[in-house]
Amino acid sequence: MYDTDHNLVNAHGAGVMYHNGVYYLFGEIKKGKTWSVSGQSWEDYRVPAGGISCYSSKDLKHWKYEGVALSPVKGQPDNDLDTGRVIERPKVIYNSKTKQFVMWMHIDKKDYSYSQSGVAVSDNPIGPYHYISSVKPNGQMSRDMTLFKDDDGKAYLIYSSEQNNTMQVCLLSDDYLHPTKTYSRILVNRRREAPAMFKNEGKYYLITSDCSGWSPNAATYAVADNILGPYKENGNPCVGPGANTTFQSQSTYIIKVRGKNNYLFMADRWNKTDLEKSDYLWLPLTVNNGKVEIKSVAAAN
Ligand code: DGJ
Repeated sequence: MYDTDHNLVNAHGAGVMYHNGVYYLFGEIKKGKTWSVSGQSWEDYRVPAGGISCYSSKDLKHWKYEGVALSPVKGQPDNDLDTGRVIERPKVIYNSKTKQFVMWMHIDKKDYSYSQSGVAVSDNPIGPYHYISSVKPNGQMSRDMTLFKDDDGKAYLIYSSEQNNTMQVCLLSDDYLHPTKTYSRILVNRRREAPAMFKNEGKYYLITSDCSGWSPNAATYAVADNILGPYKENGNPCVGPGANTTFQSQSTYIIKVRGKNNYLFMADRWNKTDLEKSDYLWLPLTVNNGKVEIKSVAAAN
């Protein structure tokens, strides 16, 4: 996927914000040599945390590079944004009361023991974003995450918690800068990550992956009438050859594109031993009578 300057798009674990007729894409900048973190019981491959990039588009096809929205820092190991840390899965929403753009992201140490959500703000959609701090919402671990802004303006942080065993949904404060005490445990002991949420006809749909590091696995989805749950699991939304590996990818975000039931499912195709070469997979997602389908297309296999 190339930007309008013919450079490869570098925006992994991405999210998209639609604002005033423009789509803004935010993602992890993965650049540099991939190394394997020693002493881990799982395949912990890393590149230096490169900060967060921003691209803009009016048609979801032509993406203009808008620069680094959130810069990392060098040589400050205690700083959340140090290049030796983990800065993953950025998501941005607009707060119409404060007129600020609010970015939440997963902040971690290279062994994933820190497990916090970081927050940054900007007056401008493309940034630069000013990093505030990171937090364990209500003292709970927070790894893979997404943000969801509901029709009533309330926003929620959804994250893998409890050593990735259980997900949680937490209502944010009115300014979107703090977790509130209102939170729920969902998909209890189901070991899911890579959450991506959308709303269709009043119901909340949450697509997640299994936990297998950078290697792909089967997605599943769950549905709820209330964003805080309970959620009912409904199996794999992917259809066709490759469905058992989400077509070699892992969910990151879902955008409503046009009409009532059409969405764009955005996923990462991680290249675990050379993370800079990780690719993307964007596929149409439909909902029919509550059934979610992500279709296998020739190019996706
Ligand atoms: C899976 C997560 O979904 C990714 O964002 C990343 O944290 C990798 N694990 C690290 O192995």
